[in-house]
Amino acid sequence: MSRIPLISGNWKMNLNHFEAIQLVQKLSYELRNHDYDRVEVSVHPPFTNIRSIQTVIDADRMKFRLGAQNCHAETSGAFTGDISPAMLQKLDVDLVIVGHSERRALSGETNELVAAKARSVFAHGMTPIVCVGETIEQRESGEAEVIVEGQVRGSLAALSKDQLSEVVIAYEPVWAIGTGQTASTDDAQAMCSHIRSVVADIHRPAETKVRIQYGGSVNVANARELMAMEDIDGALVGGASLEAASFARIVSFQEV
Ligand code: 13P
Repeated sequence: MSRIPLISGNWKMNLNHFEAIQLVQKLSYELRNHDYDRVEVSVHPPFTNIRSIQTVIDADRMKFRLGAQNCHAETSGAFTGDISPAMLQKLDVDLVIVGHSERRALSGETNELVAAKARSVFAHGMTPIVCVGETIEQRESGEAEVIVEGQVRGSLAALSKDQLSEVVIAYEPVWAIGTGQTASTDDAQAMCSHIRSVVADIHRPAETKVRIQYGGSVNVANARELMAMEDIDGALVGGASLEAASFARIVSFQEV
């Protein structure tokens, strides 16, 4: 079963809307039509930039999928400062990152909350990118597989069989994020393969379709090798997605 790779740029809390427009325009200029033939590319700007980027993508008929970095699980209500999935859907967002390790660590997001967000994203006609990944302490104590398996089972709880095929899982070891220290291709492949077997255990044959990205210090030097691995179906890129030329090269590697 061939899976179309998804390369996603998570811009995190970077770029105002003017800078964001420039980046997406540069990126569009760097990529060629054939780049999109075998790869899906998504950009995930901060909330304040989404409307601007939506307008540019639409006006210039760019082929990026528009993504967000987070959302609330509820559709509306007294949740000061939060953003509803319904609001994102109205802006043509179709991918929403949920449970990023920065949110798990800094905002106390639990697997239960991440699962509620994932269900809500699907309920609003979008696709969640559900992030999982172990800390360095967990890896060093040999617990990485158990921890990640628990995150996968907990964060995908109560998804239907179809949703489980459709969801994107991003394996991002916490110790590799923003550190320049990437997981070895063998370790990344081994964990992504384990994640796929967990999905198989939840609902066969969803594992044949579910896409699993690797994230954590992906850059021009290591992307090709990582993405050539059998169970890695793309990348969730932080720092290197803020630079149009680097991100475009990472996208083009996926073609070969
Ligand atoms: P870096 O690519 O900057 O390590 O970030 C990875 C990440 O957290 C993407 O979501």
